[in-house]
Amino acid sequence: MKGKKIIVGVSGGIAAYKAAELVRLLVKADARTFVTMTSNGARFVTPLTFEALSGNRVIRDMWDNEGTSIDHISWGQESDLIIIAPATANFIAKMAHGIGDDFLSTMVLAATAGILVCPSMNSQMFKNPAVQDNLRVLKARGITVMEPGEGQLACHTEGPGRLPEPGDIMEQAFILISPQDLSGLKILVTAGPTVEPIDPVRYITNRSSGKMGYALARAARRRGASVTLVSGPTNLKPPYGVEFCGVKTAEDMKQAVFKNRPKCNIIIKAAAVSDYRPRDSAAHKIKKDEDSLSLELVKNPDILAELGSARKESDCLLVGFAAETKDLMANAKKKLRGKNLDMIVANDVSREDSGFETDTNIVKIIYSDGQVEDLALMTKDAVADLVLDRINAMWEGSLEHRSGN
Ligand code: C5P
Repeated sequence: MKGKKIIVGVSGGIAAYKAAELVRLLVKADARTFVTMTSNGARFVTPLTFEALSGNRVIRDMWDNEGTSIDHISWGQESDLIIIAPATANFIAKMAHGIGDDFLSTMVLAATAGILVCPSMNSQMFKNPAVQDNLRVLKARGITVMEPGEGQLACHTEGPGRLPEPGDIMEQAFILISPQDLSGLKILVTAGPTVEPIDPVRYITNRSSGKMGYALARAARRRGASVTLVSGPTNLKPPYGVEFCGVKTAEDMKQAVFKNRPKCNIIIKAAAVSDYRPRDSAAHKIKKDEDSLSLELVKNPDILAELGSARKESDCLLVGFAAETKDLMANAKKKLRGKNLDMIVANDVSREDSGFETDTNIVKIIYSDGQVEDLALMTKDAVADLVLDRINAMWEGSLEHRSGN
């Protein structure tokens, strides 16, 4: 979001306090953030809060501009996105009917920037046919309307009407301002470790935070792909807008990957799958009666190798990851060939700044024609975007090849 100009319009609902968190997230993402509030919005949270968070003057009144300023025109025409959060039933009605009786509604009327509406109200109000009709009108005009969350509302009732979480509003904003170069592509990403039970309370697993796979899923969604994320247990929240399939064992992961394969163009296997599992999982907790205990391990399916050897059944591109502690290139090249992949992303996990749990990675991309791209240390988000750039180029190349151009 670096350098993007984002306007946050706060109308008068109790969820106005959550808009403060949204503004903080926008500023953290380096967006140039400007806030305007309706006079009712300013009854819930003071403009000063938003001025302190955004670092910019908050406009509340049409008539508090100085000199000849025409901010109600320029704000909506010189920005990249307008986010109305919270959008009350009243404000939604004003938008649907073209009413401009304060700064925010007038700015929206004159806007050329994209608009994201985040409704928040009592659930009966939300279900009211008048509100639903107004939302339909907005959607038909190309305005993006987020679904409100469900749960307990400030008015002590349950149901739809809660302002979407600020993190989810951010993700929807990213989708609206990012180039949609992966639109139309269906991408399956696997992430995290698998866990293989020993007994009901113990398991063996791999070290993996899932951060790289989640970064890939999130970046692909932001760029317009439809994304399925098959993930082993992690501490991460599934990215907004992604179809999420949580699994535990390698066998579960295999089932989920093969079930989703027919609808995919690209499979990226960033998961750290356990190579072995205990032959038997005890029905009850194993007691520490003996001085030693042996576990017999049997080999798990190599999901990626099976996808690679079944390539004739599906024309999706296959991308693997190779986490190594020594002989990085030799091992990664062997996997690329052995598993019949289009590309492998290799990283040396013995480094402190690369691999497990870190937010950065230093990787090499190896292609099926033997070419190697050596990348500098970067954030996992940046690695994700770069890997997706390369996959997209490869996908476009394969389309040209298939159509004989
Ligand atoms: O052979 P190795 O496990 O090092 O290969 C790593 C790549 O293979 C990763 O992309 C990983 O997700 C995938 N893999 C798999 N099934 C396994 C083991 C690894 O799909 N059982």
